[in-house]
Amino acid sequence: MTKPVILTGIRSNEEPTLGNYLGSILPMVDMQHRLAGDYQINMFVPDLHSFTTPVDHDKLFLSTIQNVKYFMAAGLDVDDPDTYVYRQSYISAHSELTWILDCFTYMGEMSRMTQFKEKSADTGESVSIGLFNYPVLMAADILLYHATHVPVGHDQFQHLEITRDIATRFNNRFGEIFTVPDSTSKQMEFINRDNGLRIRSLTDPTKKMSKSATDEKSKILLVDDPEIARRKIMSATTDSVGVINYDWDNQPGVTNLLQLLALMTHRDQADINSQWVGHTHYGELKTAVADAVSEFLINFQSRLEEIRDEQVLAALETSEDAVRRVADNTLYQVQQAVGLRPRE
Ligand code: TYM
Repeated sequence: MTKPVILTGIRSNEEPTLGNYLGSILPMVDMQHRLAGDYQINMFVPDLHSFTTPVDHDKLFLSTIQNVKYFMAAGLDVDDPDTYVYRQSYISAHSELTWILDCFTYMGEMSRMTQFKEKSADTGESVSIGLFNYPVLMAADILLYHATHVPVGHDQFQHLEITRDIATRFNNRFGEIFTVPDSTSKQMEFINRDNGLRIRSLTDPTKKMSKSATDEKSKILLVDDPEIARRKIMSATTDSVGVINYDWDNQPGVTNLLQLLALMTHRDQADINSQWVGHTHYGELKTAVADAVSEFLINFQSRLEEIRDEQVLAALETSEDAVRRVADNTLYQVQQAVGLRPRE
């Protein structure tokens, strides 16, 4: 395994949303189609990350398999020789490296993580250490495989930056053991975007569309009935300006719809904007978005139904055997560096 590594994952805590699809699944699948041959693609399920927020533990094992199916239904070819699909908890090096990295990570820098602050505010008293420590496990996920490219949505940028900080700090102390992943600006260049993608909530467009949000109307799930998805879009919160503008600061609701329309129809944002900006009928824009989303869901869900559990399990087990060796090798180098194993 010597090719540069592109790596990403989606927690299997809740059903993924259109935000997860557009921010992570689709870019990863596009990259496989464009770049496999020159790059290695690691698509893994961070199942240990999945219960940093509450989950139904009876469903976790199957939702992990379901998670891989979403990538497959989106077009990921799991038989491609450069592609690896695996579960985090099946490669014990992830947990072991996390502990070691914990000891080179500071409380101060971790306390600045916006996602921890937001999620712990929602959770109240029972905030787990796991939620606090989540970015260090994420750093281990990335550093074990020397990944340079990590396509994630905007909400994960801070976690990518802390991964870079931890890797650099460790390398400065012990030598070039880790590959430092590219900066977020370079990541954006790599996937041809100006900014990290942030699909907004349909009911409060100042916030991101989040799979863990309790308000069902705020999110479109990949398993939503297309008719229900249509209704959610038709009732999306907009504004009282009365004219469609692409303006995240003042009209985030309609701007989110314009963004969704461009992404769902694979058209340039500028092209969509030139068609809609200046119009006064918000309902027509909503109908166009609802049509695109429900057509997408019908096709996506019919592909999803055809994927069998056995097919996914076979792909997972083959990949896990292969990547375990890489992860164990990196862990061993780290163990040698910190004095847990003899240095040859
Ligand atoms: P998670 O499961 O919360 O989200 C998975 C991916 O979906 C993106 N995303 C969005 N993108 C655009 N708009 C939205 N509204 C939106 N909501 C979510 C996220 O940015 C993410 O890319 N910590 C990660 C999982 C993880 C990981 C990793 C990712 C664990 N280890 C190593 C990459 C590399 C997470 O919780 O993602």
